[in-house]
Amino acid sequence: IKHPLYKYEGFWFHQGFWFHSEASFSVEVVMALQEEFVAQPTNVFLATYPKSGTTWLKALAFAIANRTMCKGSNPTHPLLTTNPHYCVPFIETEPFLTNPCYNNDLLATHLPYTLLPKSVISSNCRIVYVCRNPKDVFISFWHFVNKLLSDDMSPEMKLEDAFELFSKGVSPNGSCWDHVIGYRKASIERPDKVLFLSYEEMKKDPKSEVKKLATFLGYPFEEGDGEIEEIIKLCSFKKLREVSKANKDGHKAIPNDAFFRKGEVGDSVNYLTPEMIEVLDKITLEKFNGLDISF
Ligand code: A3P
Repeated sequence: IKHPLYKYEGFWFHQGFWFHSEASFSVEVVMALQEEFVAQPTNVFLATYPKSGTTWLKALAFAIANRTMCKGSNPTHPLLTTNPHYCVPFIETEPFLTNPCYNNDLLATHLPYTLLPKSVISSNCRIVYVCRNPKDVFISFWHFVNKLLSDDMSPEMKLEDAFELFSKGVSPNGSCWDHVIGYRKASIERPDKVLFLSYEEMKKDPKSEVKKLATFLGYPFEEGDGEIEEIIKLCSFKKLREVSKANKDGHKAIPNDAFFRKGEVGDSVNYLTPEMIEVLDKITLEKFNGLDISF
């Protein structure tokens, strides 16, 4: 295994420098952030398990918080030239924090709730979490890893091997189910602090979910001025992928197009065997029991 994982406080992480020599999303960074990161009360953290819709959430939140720029499909809008990952930095990728980032208090993280920096829990900052059906997360993740491996000239990861690890919770940032549970419980206990959304609801009824997001971020929409529709269009899979294809600079270490594959609900049925579906559905049913999470 080229990049082994290590368990820390119940969740799995890479160690040290792992990907393109970047010390990001590693256990050392998690520990340093826990102790040293100082959250501001005005911060809003966009939290996700990888492949759950992070890029989409970043684009939507950024577009909402900077929405005077969206008027009349402004051709200079940053989302028309830049990958959303440049607009909202991950706290785990320290170099991004030195970017001015349009100064709008938005930050992103893949950290599990229980491993967030202490100041995020204790301060008045807020968190938006997007969850996604673990079956689709898994298939999206498997494609993503294989895209990175093929760019790195490394052999492909077999679906069966990836499945064994994922279903046991051995993935970067730990078990997908435990990740969701941490934020879901926090959203039930502190709804004013944590907004819990799902990829599936966002696909089904984007207008209602974007409205919810805007209100939570403190930028509620007026009815009927077409602004929500403009933001949904600007942040659509089709539009963001088009921009990412035209922009060759790429995310720091990951090619732009790796973040846009199909953008659909339920694509996992095209890859998983009936037995794999049964295993993942069973885990989901047991783990999410009583938490009012449905896909
Ligand atoms: P698929 O691999 O199923 O297509 P993340 O942003 O957390 O890395 O998640 C990536 C997943 O979100 C990919 O799923 C990607 O295609 C999808 N995605 C990216 N942008 C999207 C958008 N604007 N709308 C819907 N899905 C999007």
